[in-house]
Amino acid sequence: MFASGLLQGRRALITGGGSGLGLAIARRYAELGADLVLVGRRAAVLEAAAEGIRADHGVAVDCFPCDVRNADAVEAMMDQAFQSRPLDILVNSAAGNFLARSETLSPRAIDAVVDIVLKGGANVTLAAGRRWIAAGMPAAVLCILTQSALTGAPYKLPSAMAKAGVLAMIRSLAVEWGPAGIRLNGIAPGPFPTEGAFGRLRPEGTDLPPAEAGVALGRTGRPQELADLATFLVSDGAGYITGEVLAIDGGRRLEGAAGPELPALRSWTPETWAALRNLGRQPAAA
Ligand code: HXC
Repeated sequence: MFASGLLQGRRALITGGGSGLGLAIARRYAELGADLVLVGRRAAVLEAAAEGIRADHGVAVDCFPCDVRNADAVEAMMDQAFQSRPLDILVNSAAGNFLARSETLSPRAIDAVVDIVLKGGANVTLAAGRRWIAAGMPAAVLCILTQSALTGAPYKLPSAMAKAGVLAMIRSLAVEWGPAGIRLNGIAPGPFPTEGAFGRLRPEGTDLPPAEAGVALGRTGRPQELADLATFLVSDGAGYITGEVLAIDGGRRLEGAAGPELPALRSWTPETWAALRNLGRQPAAA
């Protein structure tokens, strides 16, 4: 799909890069020649991911254990990350989410998610941005959102609020930093079966319908598919795209919008459709 070496000479920092969608993106960027900086809370998870990537793709991979909620720690991490060679790409993939009735959420529960997704995303993006601006470097930022940034998400209130804030950040900075050659875009994934998302949002033992239910294409997403979109958006091929959010959800957002009659319409027989076609037609004149 992409020319080999597409990201050769680029250096990408990926938060949440040790697992889930962040790791899928890291692997794809490495496959296309990018050097990586993996950031996450768990050093062992980052190191294990980095070892695999180095072995498979031979690129340089640095690991910086860092909690993105802590602005001072992010500044120190970013100093270290830029020290050997400046970054060209930032992917905000670190996230937190869980299912809860909103009226039961404690202030700390809201903080836990908003601090990771919104404040963490801002901490990292601003720390990278001020270095790019000071150095006069162009760059690309990609944030993993969800459709809930646009629609809200019942029972996932803190995540929906936080992702909506990240979308506002993308749109604000795309304009503010456009003259500096810094592009910011988002991806809104549908159901991708990662442990982090599915473990919390589709807990075992619950009676939720299968993840592919409500997806027009009839299946969950493959991390590789998301990684390809993430590659395109940070590549030169997307050089005129900024402030945009692209859904990759097999049509799920549109199925929801189609309304509750959709399953019935899908199950109608040809006879029902034929009867419907004739309904209300004037009988032919004798
Ligand atoms: C209610 C909960 C809760 C739950 C935690 N809390 N889980 N409240 N229901 N299921 C509350 C705790 O009771 C506590 O408040 C507060 O949140 C902080 O919890 P901690 O466990 O101390 O916080 P922390 O260790 O920082 O954990 C953060 C976390 C955790 C977000 C709660 O799940 C996490 O680290 N997740 C990271 C990975 C992840 O979630 N990945 C999913 C990404 S999927 P009190 O008041 O009791 O002290 C994704 C898809 C988006 O983002 C789709 C959107 C629609």
